[in-house]
Amino acid sequence: MTRIVSLVCAVVLLGATAFYALTTPEAYTALRGDHAHQPTRARDLENGQTLFHAGGCASCHAATDDESRTHLSGGKPLVTPFGTFYPPNISPDPDDGLGGWTEAQFIRAMREGTAPDGRPYYPAFPYTSYRGMTADDAADIFAYLKTLPALKGRAAEHQLAFPFSLRRGVALWKLAFLSNTVIAKDPKQSEAWNRGHRLVEGVGHCGECHTPRTIAASLDRSRAFAGAPALEGKGFAPNLTPHETGLQSWSSDEIASLLKDGFTPDADSVGGSMADVVRNTSTLTDADRLAMATYLKSLPPIPSVKPKSVTP
Ligand code: HEC
Ligand code: HEC
Repeated sequence: MTRIVSLVCAVVLLGATAFYALTTPEAYTALRGDHAHQPTRARDLENGQTLFHAGGCASCHAATDDESRTHLSGGKPLVTPFGTFYPPNISPDPDDGLGGWTEAQFIRAMREGTAPDGRPYYPAFPYTSYRGMTADDAADIFAYLKTLPALKGRAAEHQLAFPFSLRRGVALWKLAFLSNTVIAKDPKQSEAWNRGHRLVEGVGHCGECHTPRTIAASLDRSRAFAGAPALEGKGFAPNLTPHETGLQSWSSDEIASLLKDGFTPDADSVGGSMADVVRNTSTLTDADRLAMATYLKSLPPIPSVKPKSVTP
């Protein structure tokens, strides 16, 4: 009996030690490599502004009553199946925002989902897509954020259901699912395709809503962009692949046009969270919107899997 008890104790202790060891920030860097990288050129504020819009930072971080979408004091509730997140203040305020952060800390947050103090971020902050951007791109966003107003105020604590409330567990999830590689250029494809690839898969994080998730809540890459139930609980983010249940009948211009004014070729306007995405993509250049459309048209066609509970 005592032998069984000591065996159980040993297993529990071993498990706890392994959990502790694997969830330290050092474990992630050791097992995945240090991918934060150094920027290689001078900061480009214009690129920073473009990527800020393409990345939809204001959709989550702007203050609830902010029409300018540049007051990034956070706090607007983000309701998900795991609970409610309150995106933090990312304005340049030294106490409540990013004023005290170094550029390297910011790049690490965007590309590895790790906070300056080593805590893992929840993937409700879509670093799972942002990780695809280069250190230069992240540094440009940081430089742009510094030009925006510094605001006081901290967001409320996230209200998450157990076990999601255990932040440390997110470190294990990251080890399993965060590959942490920069999106590579494909020399066989056009400039526009490569630009679209980076925008759609990286900073634009389109797949965070349009790609179905596995039971572990990671993106199911085998059905990339084949459509998924909207995260906010009602509605569906449609299939963006050129399948007949997706965007097969849409021209690249029609896709680019939706990203500009929110209208489908049938003159319907998009609603839900996509209306907010269009507020961001409408500020991009025509060339960037067409680049995204070019990339989407090149995807392998995949049929939509629409769950029964979702109304069309
Ligand atoms: C879908 C909503 C969403 C979008 C879009 C989003 N974020 Fe966030 N962000 C969050 C949430 C939620 C957190 C808090 C994560 C946590 O507590 O683990 C966060 C955290 C952060 C942090 C860490 C702040 C801190 O105090 O530790 C930074 C930096 C950040 N986001 C920058 C950005 C930038 C830059 C963009 C645009 C490129 C962006 N975010 C887009 C939801 C979002
Ligand atoms: C926050 C979640 C979210 C993100 C991020 C998002 N979408 Fe959407 N998208 C939706 C939802 C939901 C709809 C359906 C809107 C409706 O039915 O009115 C939609 C609709 C669309 C449509 C219309 C398709 C159709 O068949 O009517 C296109 C095209 C589209 N999105 C492209 C994009 C692109 C490109 C990106 C990345 C820049 C993107 N979306 C990012 C949620 C999102």
